[in-house]
Amino acid sequence: MGRTGNLWPLLVALATLARLSESKLKLKVSQSPVEVIYNENSLLLCEISELTGATLESKNLGVLWTVTRGTEASTAFSYTSGDVQEAWPEAEILESSILNGNMSLLLRHVTFKHTGQYKCEVVIPPNNKASQTVKLEVLARPTVTVVSEKVVEVGTGGEMALGCHLSGYYPCESNAEWFQSIPSQEERKLLTDICIAPTVKNPDGTCNVTTEVRLEPHVEDIGSTFECLVTHKTFSEPYLVQASVTLKEAEIRLSTSSIVGSVIASIIISIALTALVIFLYLRFCYKVAPKVSEIQRPVKLIHQELAEFVCQVSGYRPNVITVSWYLKRCNETKEKLIADWQVDDLFHFQFITDKKMERNADTSETGMKWKVKAANVRKNNDGTFSISSILEVYPDFDVDNSAQITCKVMHPSEREGILRTIRLQIDGVPPKLANIIKPPVVHHNNSVTLTCPINFFKPHPLKITWYKIIDGEKIYLVEHNNGAEENFYQDKYSHYLVPFSYPDHTLSVCSMLLFHATIQEDENSQYSCEVGHISLSNPAEKHVQLNVKAYPSLNAIISEPGNPVIGEQLTLTCKVHSFYPKNITVRWLKNDDVIMNTESPEIVNSENELYECTSLCTITATLSDLHSKYKCQVLHESLMYPRFTEYTPESLVSFPKVSEITCNHATPELERELTLTCKIIDFYPEDIQVEWFRNEVRCDDVKYGRIMETSLCENGLYSKVSTVTLTASADDHQAEYRIEVYHSKSSTKPFKQFYQLFLKGSPKFSEFRLEPESPLYGQPLSVSTSVCEIPHDNITVEWYKASERIKGVTNSKPVLNSENTYKINSCLKFTVTAEDFERDLHFQYKDNSNTDVPVFKRRIQLPLTAVTPKVSEIKCSHDHPKKGENATLTCRIEHFCPADIHIIWSKGWTEYKDKQSIETPKIDSKGLYSTVTREDVRSERLDFLSDTNISLKDIPYGEMDCLHLH
Ligand SMILES: *[C@@H]1O[C@H](CO)[C@@H](O)[C@H](O)[C@H]1NC(C)=O
Ligand SMILES: *[C@@H]1O[C@H](CO)[C@@H](O)[C@H](O)[C@H]1NC(C)=O
Repeated sequence: MGRTGNLWPLLVALATLARLSESKLKLKVSQSPVEVIYNENSLLLCEISELTGATLESKNLGVLWTVTRGTEASTAFSYTSGDVQEAWPEAEILESSILNGNMSLLLRHVTFKHTGQYKCEVVIPPNNKASQTVKLEVLARPTVTVVSEKVVEVGTGGEMALGCHLSGYYPCESNAEWFQSIPSQEERKLLTDICIAPTVKNPDGTCNVTTEVRLEPHVEDIGSTFECLVTHKTFSEPYLVQASVTLKEAEIRLSTSSIVGSVIASIIISIALTALVIFLYLRFCYKVAPKVSEIQRPVKLIHQELAEFVCQVSGYRPNVITVSWYLKRCNETKEKLIADWQVDDLFHFQFITDKKMERNADTSETGMKWKVKAANVRKNNDGTFSISSILEVYPDFDVDNSAQITCKVMHPSEREGILRTIRLQIDGVPPKLANIIKPPVVHHNNSVTLTCPINFFKPHPLKITWYKIIDGEKIYLVEHNNGAEENFYQDKYSHYLVPFSYPDHTLSVCSMLLFHATIQEDENSQYSCEVGHISLSNPAEKHVQLNVKAYPSLNAIISEPGNPVIGEQLTLTCKVHSFYPKNITVRWLKNDDVIMNTESPEIVNSENELYECTSLCTITATLSDLHSKYKCQVLHESLMYPRFTEYTPESLVSFPKVSEITCNHATPELERELTLTCKIIDFYPEDIQVEWFRNEVRCDDVKYGRIMETSLCENGLYSKVSTVTLTASADDHQAEYRIEVYHSKSSTKPFKQFYQLFLKGSPKFSEFRLEPESPLYGQPLSVSTSVCEIPHDNITVEWYKASERIKGVTNSKPVLNSENTYKINSCLKFTVTAEDFERDLHFQYKDNSNTDVPVFKRRIQLPLTAVTPKVSEIKCSHDHPKKGENATLTCRIEHFCPADIHIIWSKGWTEYKDKQSIETPKIDSKGLYSTVTREDVRSERLDFLSDTNISLKDIPYGEMDCLHLH
């Protein structure tokens, strides 16, 4: 036993694959049941009848014989991997035989304990597994003993008794009969005056029984033999045992003593005979009425559960009896027969009575599965009989409550029959209420189902009430009473029932209350489910408390400034709102690392009892943030997982730093190449536009210098160097170079730097000054300028209008100042006319002593505006021109600027240019131009309306109506 531990489970586990593929192992076992005589050896065959795809090897083979007796299972023999693991001492299989595929189990000296269901299981891992079962029945042969007197004298009226005693046999069914073989008769005669004692059981399960026969032999019986014929399963043919009794004629002894003796003997015999007759009469013929008990019932009758009613009938004789059961339901007027049970046998008492005599529910008038159980007739010592009639019922609460059950006993001694009646009081099984099931988290504004499990009750009528407790007061919501339902708040609550039923008529129901939970109504509220049932004296209740929670909502993160600037502070704002309860944790994460944790930030109680809060996180933006993710994460008890909102500073910018413009020469010189440089550094993103201006004029060609740009990128930030290379001319002196850097991502305004070029050894010219600042046509104007840092006083300053030198200039005397240089003021005064419109004034400086110094020219254009002409009415030379006469139309166009003007005469829609003349515009008293236009027309043409169109500098001033003629 267990030498190497039990490897069987392992082996079976290995062979579980066998289920997947068709097993190719088949077993053949003995035909079931195998019957064996007690104490003999038994062979339970189990042979491999078919095996493909595997060979039998001791290493890879398992054999298990198990036996089930009743509910108990045990191992009789187990063999795995070449070893016998476990075996009963009386069990045996040869290993050599196992390897030949013969797993037959030999049991030696079988006893009753070996009775059972045997299973032969063979496993050949990995693919083969098979099992077969066979039943073993242990039988025992009766030991038959015949008891009799040795010699019986006949003719004396004496009685003889023969006993046939069967002992130690199994199964307990047997039969013993007595036969008499009379010499004068061919056939043997069955003796019927027999008495069979009740079968008794021995401790080992075997039985004993005795069959006795009594008879009064007569002279003709002399020579008879008596045989007891025993039938039992263990005998293939009835077993005969002869009684060793001899019948002989009684000797007549005539001696006085014998006469006296015989007289005494006959007296004794007649007394004995009388006693025997009385005994037999009492035993077989005398009628005794039965005693019938009250009907015994179980303490509780449960709806649809088996219950037994017992009617005890005892002490009656003869064994002829009928027990009938009747049912009368409340709404019925007549009793109905459920079943009856009858014994009608005067002399025959035996084992197999049940089968012969029972009549049951087949005859029932109720059509129910109620039935009367087979009952054993017991014979009492005084020769009377007893019987217990048992009625099995399945009471139904709906129909059988208060019904009346009657047990009626009929016996030859009673005409009427004996009645016993009982009234049914049916109980149910009270429901068991489990705790109300609620969702783990009840969310604000979401639907909630509360489930009240009402389990294992019967019968079905049930009253379910849902209520809510507000301020200690019960508010009824839904009332369900056995199918009828009343919902007091239809808008808010719905109610559903989900029933389950079990085979034994037990019911379970889930009562579900569905509603929309809000914090205002349901936070901290208590809901109850109350259940009433016939088997409950008080309704059962369950309560549940709700805590409503509201999820926090997160707005998108707002950044201030919208375009964060590298190196500057950036404030991120996260608004969390609509949550409940108040406790909340707001965290800021940068790339999943917590950078800020606020356990309970400042909370605002907004509408509907929901809370909100705002969390700020201030950081200094760096270039690395371009690829960083900022998260505002919220932890709240309503959430299984934290919620978050994300922000990536994609619009990160870095302002360009624009350096001052530098020149490669400290003092630029005339006619020498020079380079102006501007560095634009540390900007992001890369997109940038750089423009150079010279005196407000964009340097977009090589006229003012060559522009070059070099770009580079360092640590993610961009830089650019922009240069302008030019050869300085006299015109460049005091020219202002300006760089404008447009970085639209960081700023809408350009970044600017200026550089004014001063050529070495050149005087400095001041800005022109106008007096008044806005010159007016026809008004005097003074334009003045000054020149300083003049090395000596031998210079000339002059003014030009176009190329025409202007006279009447007021020049101051050169004044020597502390730096030993001269300064001169020059002022030009004149009346402004239309001729000055868009015309340059030049101021010219000339060094008379040094011809190397170029002539410096400074230019100014007066800020004058164009003026719209005034057009007079067209005048005709004749007031009333006559047909055929010539006439001249005249139109004055006055006070306009500039001079170029376009005049079109037209008649109707057609241009009319026959004989027109336009005078050259002349400066008029207002300093503006004026002119006159004439048109010679023949009067036949004057029938029509005439218009004059005048355009000024190609800009049409609109149609000017000169004349209307009739
Ligand atoms: C198997 O073995 C038993 C005894 O161990 C024997 O009686 C039986 O005949 C054998 N079966 C076969 C097929 O050999
Ligand atoms: C059954 O008969 C045997 C043999 O006669 C006897 O020894 C035994 O006690 C009997 N059993 C009972 C229960 O009477």
